[in-house]
Amino acid sequence: MIRKLLTEGMDTHDLTRLDVYRGRGGYAALAKALGGMSPEDVFNEVKTSNLRGRGGAGAGAAFKWSTLPNDGRPRYLILNGDESEPGSFSGRMLIERNPHRIIEGALLAAYACGMAKTFVYLRGEFYEGYAILKRAVEMARDAGLVGERILGSGFSHEIVVHRGAGAYICGEETAIMESLEGKRGHPRTKPPFPTAAGLYGMPTVINNVETIANLPGIVENGGAWFAAIGPEKSPGTKICSVSGRVRRPGNYEIEMGTPLRELIEEHAGGLEPGHELQFILPAGASSALIQPKDLDVSLDFDSMMAIRSMLGSAGMLVCDERDCPVHVAYLGARFYHHESCGKCTPCREGTGWTEKVLYRMEHGQGRPGDTERLEQLCQGIGGRKCLCLLGDFSVTYLQSALRAFRDAFVAHEHGSCPMARQEVAIR
Ligand SMILES: Cc1cc2nc3c(=O)[nH]c(=O)nc-3n(C[C@H](O)[C@H](O)[C@H](O)COP(=O)(O)O)c2cc1C
Ligand code: SF4
Repeated sequence: MIRKLLTEGMDTHDLTRLDVYRGRGGYAALAKALGGMSPEDVFNEVKTSNLRGRGGAGAGAAFKWSTLPNDGRPRYLILNGDESEPGSFSGRMLIERNPHRIIEGALLAAYACGMAKTFVYLRGEFYEGYAILKRAVEMARDAGLVGERILGSGFSHEIVVHRGAGAYICGEETAIMESLEGKRGHPRTKPPFPTAAGLYGMPTVINNVETIANLPGIVENGGAWFAAIGPEKSPGTKICSVSGRVRRPGNYEIEMGTPLRELIEEHAGGLEPGHELQFILPAGASSALIQPKDLDVSLDFDSMMAIRSMLGSAGMLVCDERDCPVHVAYLGARFYHHESCGKCTPCREGTGWTEKVLYRMEHGQGRPGDTERLEQLCQGIGGRKCLCLLGDFSVTYLQSALRAFRDAFVAHEHGSCPMARQEVAIR
Protein backbone atom coordinates (compact mmCIF):
# COMPACT_ATOMS: atom_id res chain seq x y z
CA MET A 1 0.00 0.00 0.00
CA ILE A 2 1.29 3.43 -0.92
CA ARG A 3 1.53 5.55 2.21
CA LYS A 4 3.07 8.99 1.93
CA LEU A 5 4.67 10.12 5.16
CA LEU A 6 7.95 11.45 3.82
CA THR A 7 6.90 12.20 0.29
CA GLU A 8 3.54 13.83 1.02
CA GLY A 9 3.11 17.01 -1.01
CA MET A 10 6.30 16.47 -2.98
CA ASP A 11 4.51 16.01 -6.31
CA THR A 12 2.24 19.02 -5.92
CA HIS A 13 4.24 21.57 -3.93
CA ASP A 14 7.72 23.06 -3.99
CA LEU A 15 8.77 21.90 -0.55
CA THR A 16 12.28 23.26 -1.02
CA ARG A 17 10.69 26.66 -0.22
CA LEU A 18 10.61 27.29 3.51
CA ASP A 19 7.25 29.11 3.39
CA VAL A 20 5.66 26.19 1.51
CA TYR A 21 7.12 23.58 3.88
CA ARG A 22 5.99 25.56 6.91
CA GLY A 23 2.59 26.20 5.34
CA ARG A 24 2.08 22.45 5.23
CA GLY A 25 2.91 21.96 8.90
CA GLY A 26 6.69 21.84 8.56
CA TYR A 27 8.80 22.68 11.64
CA ALA A 28 5.72 22.21 13.86
CA ALA A 29 7.35 19.13 15.39
CA LEU A 30 10.47 21.14 16.16
CA ALA A 31 8.35 23.89 17.75
CA LYS A 32 6.51 21.23 19.77
CA ALA A 33 9.77 19.66 20.97
CA LEU A 34 11.45 22.94 21.89
CA GLY A 35 8.23 24.37 23.30
CA GLY A 36 7.58 21.79 26.01
CA MET A 37 9.37 18.50 25.54
CA SER A 38 12.64 17.63 27.21
CA PRO A 39 15.38 15.88 25.18
CA GLU A 40 14.46 12.68 27.06
CA ASP A 41 10.82 13.09 25.98
CA VAL A 42 11.89 13.24 22.33
CA PHE A 43 14.22 10.28 22.81
CA ASN A 44 11.41 8.27 24.41
CA GLU A 45 9.03 8.97 21.51
CA VAL A 46 11.66 7.67 19.09
CA LYS A 47 12.18 4.63 21.31
CA THR A 48 8.43 3.95 21.41
CA SER A 49 8.21 4.34 17.64
CA ASN A 50 10.60 1.40 17.13
CA LEU A 51 12.08 3.28 14.16
CA ARG A 52 14.76 1.23 12.43
CA GLY A 53 17.55 2.66 10.30
CA ARG A 54 16.82 2.93 6.60
CA GLY A 55 20.50 2.84 5.55
CA GLY A 56 20.64 -0.94 5.18
CA ALA A 57 21.00 -2.96 8.37
CA GLY A 58 17.76 -1.82 10.05
CA ALA A 59 19.41 -1.01 13.39
CA GLY A 60 17.09 0.47 16.01
CA ALA A 61 17.53 4.25 15.93
CA ALA A 62 16.92 4.79 19.65
CA PHE A 63 19.09 1.82 20.55
CA LYS A 64 22.00 3.28 18.60
CA TRP A 65 21.50 6.68 20.26
CA SER A 66 21.36 5.01 23.69
CA THR A 67 24.92 3.69 23.27
CA LEU A 68 26.37 7.23 23.36
CA PRO A 69 28.53 7.56 26.48
CA ASN A 70 27.66 10.23 29.03
CA ASP A 71 31.15 11.58 29.52
CA GLY A 72 30.77 15.25 28.72
CA ARG A 73 32.61 15.13 25.37
CA PRO A 74 30.96 16.88 22.41
CA ARG A 75 28.75 14.56 20.37
CA TYR A 76 28.27 14.69 16.63
CA LEU A 77 25.50 13.62 14.30
CA ILE A 78 26.31 12.54 10.76
CA LEU A 79 23.53 12.20 8.22
CA ASN A 80 24.44 9.64 5.62
CA GLY A 81 23.39 10.90 2.18
CA ASP A 82 26.10 9.09 0.27
CA GLU A 83 23.69 6.72 -1.47
CA SER A 84 26.07 5.09 -3.89
CA GLU A 85 24.36 1.69 -3.97
CA PRO A 86 23.54 0.94 -7.61
CA GLY A 87 19.75 1.13 -7.99
CA SER A 88 19.06 3.28 -4.90
CA PHE A 89 17.81 6.80 -5.47
CA SER A 90 15.33 7.50 -2.66
CA GLY A 91 17.69 9.60 -0.53
CA ARG A 92 18.54 11.77 -3.50
CA MET A 93 14.85 12.50 -4.04
CA LEU A 94 14.36 13.49 -0.40
CA ILE A 95 17.44 15.71 -0.43
CA GLU A 96 16.44 17.47 -3.64
CA ARG A 97 12.71 17.75 -2.99
CA ASN A 98 12.13 17.69 0.75
CA PRO A 99 15.31 19.15 2.28
CA HIS A 100 13.58 20.88 5.21
CA ARG A 101 12.19 17.55 6.39
CA ILE A 102 15.79 16.30 6.70
CA ILE A 103 16.88 19.49 8.46
CA GLU A 104 13.95 19.32 10.88
CA GLY A 105 14.68 15.65 11.58
CA ALA A 106 18.36 16.41 12.20
CA LEU A 107 17.44 19.18 14.66
CA LEU A 108 15.13 16.80 16.55
CA ALA A 109 17.79 14.06 16.73
CA ALA A 110 20.38 16.64 17.81
CA TYR A 111 18.05 17.96 20.52
CA ALA A 112 17.25 14.44 21.79
CA CYS A 113 20.91 13.37 21.95
CA GLY A 114 22.56 16.67 22.87
CA MET A 115 24.63 16.82 19.69
CA ALA A 116 27.15 19.64 19.27
CA LYS A 117 26.91 19.73 15.48
CA THR A 118 25.37 17.91 12.51
CA PHE A 119 27.28 17.02 9.36
CA VAL A 120 25.31 15.99 6.30
CA TYR A 121 27.54 13.88 4.06
CA LEU A 122 26.32 13.85 0.46
CA ARG A 123 27.44 11.69 -2.40
CA GLY A 124 29.98 13.53 -4.55
CA GLU A 125 27.77 13.41 -7.64
CA PHE A 126 24.84 15.11 -5.89
CA TYR A 127 25.70 18.59 -7.19
CA GLU A 128 22.08 19.65 -7.32
CA GLY A 129 21.10 18.15 -3.97
CA TYR A 130 24.11 19.82 -2.37
CA ALA A 131 23.07 23.26 -3.65
CA ILE A 132 19.42 22.70 -2.65
CA LEU A 133 20.23 21.45 0.84
CA LYS A 134 22.76 24.19 1.50
CA ARG A 135 20.22 26.81 0.38
CA ALA A 136 17.58 25.22 2.63
CA VAL A 137 19.94 25.35 5.64
CA GLU A 138 20.58 29.05 4.93
CA MET A 139 16.82 29.73 4.67
CA ALA A 140 16.30 27.91 7.97
CA ARG A 141 19.13 29.87 9.59
CA ASP A 142 17.64 33.19 8.41
CA ALA A 143 14.32 32.13 9.97
CA GLY A 144 15.90 31.28 13.33
CA LEU A 145 15.53 27.52 12.84
CA VAL A 146 19.26 26.77 12.69
CA GLY A 147 22.03 28.46 14.68
CA GLU A 148 21.83 30.22 18.04
CA ARG A 149 18.81 29.91 20.33
CA ILE A 150 16.54 28.15 17.85
CA LEU A 151 12.94 29.46 17.92
CA GLY A 152 13.88 31.50 21.00
CA SER A 153 14.69 28.39 23.04
CA GLY A 154 17.91 27.52 24.82
CA PHE A 155 18.79 25.03 22.07
CA SER A 156 21.48 26.05 19.55
CA HIS A 157 22.66 23.89 16.67
CA GLU A 158 24.72 24.16 13.47
CA ILE A 159 24.37 22.03 10.37
CA VAL A 160 27.26 21.58 7.94
CA VAL A 161 26.54 20.22 4.46
CA HIS A 162 29.49 18.36 2.94
CA ARG A 163 29.84 16.79 -0.49
CA GLY A 164 32.12 13.77 -0.85
CA ALA A 165 34.37 13.11 -3.81
CA GLY A 166 32.43 10.21 -5.32
CA ALA A 167 33.35 6.89 -3.71
CA TYR A 168 30.98 4.07 -2.77
CA ILE A 169 33.07 3.21 0.28
CA CYS A 170 32.42 6.66 1.75
CA GLY A 171 28.88 5.50 2.57
CA GLU A 172 30.39 3.16 5.18
CA GLU A 173 30.06 4.82 8.54
CA THR A 174 33.72 4.97 9.52
CA ALA A 175 34.95 5.85 6.01
CA ILE A 176 32.57 8.84 6.13
CA MET A 177 34.29 10.04 9.28
CA GLU A 178 37.75 9.70 7.71
CA SER A 179 36.52 11.58 4.67
CA LEU A 180 34.98 14.36 6.77
CA GLU A 181 38.27 14.70 8.63
CA GLY A 182 39.96 15.37 5.29
CA LYS A 183 41.61 11.97 4.97
CA ARG A 184 41.26 9.25 2.38
CA GLY A 185 37.86 7.57 2.84
CA HIS A 186 39.02 4.22 4.20
CA PRO A 187 37.05 2.30 6.85
CA ARG A 188 38.40 2.19 10.38
CA THR A 189 38.78 -0.88 12.54
CA LYS A 190 35.84 -1.46 14.90
CA PRO A 191 35.75 -1.35 17.90
CA PRO A 192 35.78 1.41 18.87
CA PHE A 193 32.34 1.97 17.39
CA PRO A 194 31.42 5.48 16.26
CA THR A 195 29.18 6.15 19.27
CA ALA A 196 32.24 5.62 21.51
CA ALA A 197 34.90 7.28 19.34
CA GLY A 198 33.75 8.66 16.02
CA LEU A 199 34.29 11.92 14.19
CA TYR A 200 37.42 13.67 15.56
CA GLY A 201 37.46 10.91 18.19
CA MET A 202 34.17 12.12 19.67
CA PRO A 203 30.95 10.13 20.25
CA THR A 204 29.11 10.13 16.94
CA VAL A 205 25.79 8.85 15.65
CA ILE A 206 25.45 8.08 11.95
CA ASN A 207 21.97 7.82 10.51
CA ASN A 208 20.68 7.62 6.98
CA VAL A 209 18.82 10.70 5.71
CA GLU A 210 15.57 8.73 5.33
CA THR A 211 15.81 7.48 8.92
CA ILE A 212 16.11 11.05 10.14
CA ALA A 213 13.32 12.34 7.87
CA ASN A 214 10.92 10.17 9.91
CA LEU A 215 11.48 12.12 13.11
CA PRO A 216 9.16 15.10 12.50
CA GLY A 217 6.21 12.71 12.06
CA ILE A 218 7.16 10.73 15.15
CA VAL A 219 7.48 13.80 17.37
CA GLU A 220 4.35 15.43 16.00
CA ASN A 221 2.07 12.38 16.18
CA GLY A 222 3.80 10.36 18.90
CA GLY A 223 5.91 7.23 18.82
CA ALA A 224 2.87 4.98 19.34
CA TRP A 225 1.27 6.34 16.15
CA PHE A 226 4.38 5.40 14.15
CA ALA A 227 4.74 2.02 15.85
CA ALA A 228 1.21 1.11 14.72
CA ILE A 229 2.02 1.56 11.01
CA GLY A 230 2.91 -1.73 9.32
CA PRO A 231 4.49 -4.77 11.01
CA GLU A 232 5.26 -4.50 14.72
CA LYS A 233 8.98 -5.13 14.31
CA SER A 234 9.45 -2.99 11.16
CA PRO A 235 7.06 -0.07 11.49
CA GLY A 236 6.68 2.94 9.23
CA THR A 237 7.17 3.32 5.53
CA LYS A 238 10.03 2.71 3.12
CA ILE A 239 10.75 4.56 -0.06
CA CYS A 240 11.54 1.89 -2.62
CA SER A 241 13.49 2.82 -5.75
CA VAL A 242 12.30 0.55 -8.55
CA SER A 243 14.27 0.33 -11.79
CA GLY A 244 15.03 -2.10 -14.58
CA ARG A 245 12.38 -3.97 -16.55
CA VAL A 246 9.25 -2.33 -15.19
CA ARG A 247 6.85 -0.06 -17.00
CA ARG A 248 6.88 2.72 -14.38
CA PRO A 249 10.31 2.94 -12.74
CA GLY A 250 10.57 5.41 -9.89
CA ASN A 251 10.41 5.95 -6.15
CA TYR A 252 7.40 4.55 -4.29
CA GLU A 253 6.82 5.15 -0.60
CA ILE A 254 5.02 2.07 0.69
CA GLU A 255 3.84 1.01 4.11
CA MET A 256 6.21 -1.60 5.53
CA GLY A 257 4.66 -5.03 5.09
CA THR A 258 3.38 -4.34 1.56
CA PRO A 259 3.90 -7.42 -0.63
CA LEU A 260 6.73 -7.12 -3.15
CA ARG A 261 4.28 -8.33 -5.80
CA GLU A 262 2.04 -5.31 -5.24
CA LEU A 263 4.99 -2.91 -5.55
CA ILE A 264 6.18 -4.45 -8.81
CA GLU A 265 2.90 -5.36 -10.49
CA GLU A 266 0.64 -2.50 -9.40
CA HIS A 267 2.68 0.55 -8.50
CA ALA A 268 5.63 0.05 -10.84
CA GLY A 269 3.28 -1.04 -13.63
CA GLY A 270 4.52 -4.63 -13.96
CA LEU A 271 6.86 -5.92 -16.60
CA GLU A 272 6.71 -5.04 -20.27
CA PRO A 273 4.08 -7.12 -22.13
CA GLY A 274 5.41 -10.45 -23.32
CA HIS A 275 8.21 -10.61 -20.79
CA GLU A 276 8.62 -12.65 -17.65
CA LEU A 277 10.13 -11.79 -14.33
CA GLN A 278 13.37 -13.70 -13.82
CA PHE A 279 14.76 -12.21 -10.61
CA ILE A 280 14.94 -9.05 -8.53
CA LEU A 281 17.84 -7.56 -6.64
CA PRO A 282 15.90 -5.93 -3.78
CA ALA A 283 18.67 -3.87 -2.20
CA GLY A 284 20.84 -2.87 -5.12
CA ALA A 285 23.91 -4.75 -6.23
CA SER A 286 24.72 -5.93 -2.68
CA SER A 287 21.70 -8.15 -2.11
CA ALA A 288 20.83 -11.77 -2.72
CA LEU A 289 18.41 -12.12 -5.63
CA ILE A 290 14.75 -12.91 -5.19
CA GLN A 291 13.07 -15.36 -7.57
CA PRO A 292 9.44 -15.13 -8.79
CA LYS A 293 8.37 -17.85 -6.31
CA ASP A 294 9.09 -15.38 -3.46
CA LEU A 295 7.24 -12.43 -4.99
CA ASP A 296 4.63 -12.46 -2.22
CA VAL A 297 7.21 -11.69 0.44
CA SER A 298 6.33 -8.81 2.71
CA LEU A 299 8.58 -5.77 2.35
CA ASP A 300 10.00 -5.44 5.84
CA PHE A 301 13.38 -6.14 7.39
CA ASP A 302 12.59 -9.52 8.97
CA SER A 303 10.51 -11.08 6.17
CA MET A 304 13.22 -10.25 3.64
CA MET A 305 15.86 -11.83 5.87
CA ALA A 306 13.68 -14.93 6.22
CA ILE A 307 13.98 -15.59 2.47
CA ARG A 308 17.80 -15.13 2.67
CA SER A 309 17.72 -11.67 1.13
CA MET A 310 17.40 -8.18 2.61
CA LEU A 311 15.35 -5.00 2.43
CA GLY A 312 18.46 -2.83 2.80
CA SER A 313 18.10 0.46 1.01
CA ALA A 314 15.24 -1.01 -1.11
CA GLY A 315 16.84 -0.19 -4.43
CA MET A 316 14.94 -2.78 -6.47
CA LEU A 317 16.56 -3.86 -9.74
CA VAL A 318 14.03 -5.85 -11.74
CA CYS A 319 15.34 -8.32 -14.33
CA ASP A 320 13.38 -10.32 -16.90
CA GLU A 321 14.32 -13.31 -19.06
CA ARG A 322 16.49 -11.10 -21.26
CA ASP A 323 18.83 -10.37 -18.36
CA CYS A 324 21.54 -12.92 -17.94
CA PRO A 325 22.44 -13.48 -14.28
CA VAL A 326 26.07 -13.96 -15.30
CA HIS A 327 26.07 -10.60 -17.05
CA VAL A 328 24.57 -8.96 -13.94
CA ALA A 329 27.26 -10.68 -11.84
CA TYR A 330 29.96 -9.32 -14.15
CA LEU A 331 28.62 -5.76 -13.88
CA GLY A 332 28.56 -6.09 -10.07
CA ALA A 333 32.09 -7.52 -9.96
CA ARG A 334 33.42 -4.67 -12.08
CA PHE A 335 31.78 -2.18 -9.73
CA TYR A 336 33.10 -3.75 -6.51
CA HIS A 337 36.61 -4.16 -7.87
CA HIS A 338 36.61 -0.49 -8.79
CA GLU A 339 35.17 0.60 -5.45
CA SER A 340 37.24 -1.63 -3.10
CA CYS A 341 39.45 0.69 -1.09
CA GLY A 342 42.21 -1.93 -1.17
CA LYS A 343 42.85 -2.02 2.55
CA CYS A 344 42.18 -5.74 3.11
CA THR A 345 43.57 -8.54 1.00
CA PRO A 346 40.44 -10.73 0.49
CA CYS A 347 38.48 -7.75 -0.84
CA ARG A 348 41.27 -6.08 -2.82
CA GLU A 349 42.54 -9.25 -4.50
CA GLY A 350 39.29 -11.20 -4.49
CA THR A 351 37.20 -8.54 -6.22
CA GLY A 352 39.90 -8.30 -8.90
CA TRP A 353 39.94 -12.06 -9.50
CA THR A 354 36.15 -12.25 -9.49
CA GLU A 355 35.96 -9.57 -12.14
CA LYS A 356 38.63 -11.31 -14.20
CA VAL A 357 36.87 -14.69 -14.18
CA LEU A 358 33.46 -13.15 -14.89
CA TYR A 359 34.94 -10.99 -17.65
CA ARG A 360 36.13 -14.00 -19.56
CA MET A 361 32.90 -15.93 -18.95
CA GLU A 362 30.93 -12.96 -20.15
CA HIS A 363 33.10 -12.48 -23.21
CA GLY A 364 33.00 -16.03 -24.59
CA GLN A 365 36.36 -17.03 -23.11
CA GLY A 366 35.15 -19.03 -20.09
CA ARG A 367 37.24 -21.98 -18.96
CA PRO A 368 36.18 -25.34 -17.51
CA GLY A 369 36.04 -24.98 -13.73
CA ASP A 370 35.28 -21.24 -13.73
CA THR A 371 31.99 -21.77 -11.88
CA GLU A 372 33.80 -23.59 -9.09
CA ARG A 373 36.50 -20.94 -9.13
CA LEU A 374 33.80 -18.32 -8.50
CA GLU A 375 32.36 -20.39 -5.65
CA GLN A 376 35.80 -20.59 -4.07
CA LEU A 377 36.33 -16.87 -4.50
CA CYS A 378 33.01 -16.19 -2.75
CA GLN A 379 34.14 -18.32 0.17
CA GLY A 380 37.48 -16.57 0.28
CA ILE A 381 36.00 -13.08 0.35
CA GLY A 382 32.68 -13.48 2.20
CA GLY A 383 31.95 -14.42 5.80
CA ARG A 384 33.14 -11.28 7.57
CA LYS A 385 36.81 -11.72 6.70
CA CYS A 386 37.24 -8.06 5.85
CA LEU A 387 37.38 -4.79 7.72
CA CYS A 388 34.07 -3.55 6.35
CA LEU A 389 31.07 -5.13 4.69
CA LEU A 390 32.02 -4.19 1.13
CA GLY A 391 33.84 -7.50 0.81
CA ASP A 392 30.68 -9.42 1.78
CA PHE A 393 28.52 -7.17 -0.38
CA SER A 394 30.69 -8.00 -3.40
CA VAL A 395 29.75 -11.71 -3.24
CA THR A 396 26.18 -11.66 -1.89
CA TYR A 397 24.42 -11.42 -5.25
CA LEU A 398 26.99 -13.69 -6.90
CA GLN A 399 26.47 -16.45 -4.34
CA SER A 400 22.71 -16.28 -4.73
CA ALA A 401 23.01 -16.33 -8.54
CA LEU A 402 25.33 -19.34 -8.37
CA ARG A 403 22.71 -21.11 -6.25
CA ALA A 404 19.74 -20.20 -8.43
CA PHE A 405 21.31 -20.23 -11.92
CA ARG A 406 24.34 -22.53 -11.68
CA ASP A 407 23.61 -24.01 -15.12
CA ALA A 408 23.91 -20.59 -16.71
CA PHE A 409 27.37 -20.13 -15.20
CA VAL A 410 28.47 -23.59 -16.35
CA ALA A 411 27.21 -22.82 -19.88
CA HIS A 412 29.36 -19.71 -19.90
CA GLU A 413 32.40 -21.90 -19.27
CA HIS A 414 31.75 -23.19 -22.81
CA GLY A 415 31.00 -19.88 -24.45
CA SER A 416 27.22 -19.96 -24.48
CA CYS A 417 24.52 -18.05 -22.66
CA PRO A 418 21.28 -20.05 -22.47
CA MET A 419 19.46 -17.57 -20.24
CA ALA A 420 19.71 -14.71 -22.68
CA ARG A 421 18.97 -17.21 -25.47
CA GLN A 422 21.88 -15.95 -27.51
CA GLU A 423 25.56 -16.71 -27.96
CA VAL A 424 27.90 -14.61 -25.85
CA ALA A 425 29.55 -12.12 -28.12
CA ILE A 426 33.35 -12.21 -28.14
CA ARG A 427 34.34 -8.60 -27.64
C1 LIG B 1 30.31 -0.24 1.63
C2 LIG B 1 29.18 0.36 2.40
C3 LIG B 1 28.45 1.40 1.85
C4 LIG B 1 27.40 1.96 2.56
N1 LIG B 1 26.70 3.00 1.97
C5 LIG B 1 25.70 3.59 2.67
C6 LIG B 1 24.99 4.68 2.11
O1 LIG B 1 25.26 5.12 1.00
N2 LIG B 1 24.00 5.24 2.86
C7 LIG B 1 23.69 4.77 4.12
O2 LIG B 1 22.82 5.33 4.79
N3 LIG B 1 24.34 3.73 4.66
C8 LIG B 1 25.34 3.15 3.98
N4 LIG B 1 26.03 2.12 4.56
C9 LIG B 1 25.64 1.72 5.94
C10 LIG B 1 26.31 2.66 6.94
O3 LIG B 1 27.58 2.14 7.28
C11 LIG B 1 25.49 2.82 8.22
O4 LIG B 1 25.17 1.56 8.72
C12 LIG B 1 24.19 3.62 8.03
O5 LIG B 1 24.44 4.88 7.46
C13 LIG B 1 23.49 3.79 9.37
O6 LIG B 1 22.30 4.51 9.22
P1 LIG B 1 20.90 3.96 9.77
O7 LIG B 1 21.16 3.37 11.13
O8 LIG B 1 20.02 5.14 9.81
O9 LIG B 1 20.44 2.90 8.81
C14 LIG B 1 27.08 1.50 3.85
C15 LIG B 1 27.79 0.44 4.41
C16 LIG B 1 28.83 -0.14 3.69
C17 LIG B 1 29.58 -1.26 4.30
S1 SF4 C 1 36.40 -4.77 2.75
FE1 SF4 C 1 37.19 -3.79 0.91
S2 SF4 C 1 36.37 -1.73 0.95
FE2 SF4 C 1 36.16 -2.57 3.04
S3 SF4 C 1 38.04 -1.93 4.07
FE3 SF4 C 1 38.46 -3.93 3.21
S4 SF4 C 1 39.39 -3.48 1.19
FE4 SF4 C 1 38.38 -1.61 1.90
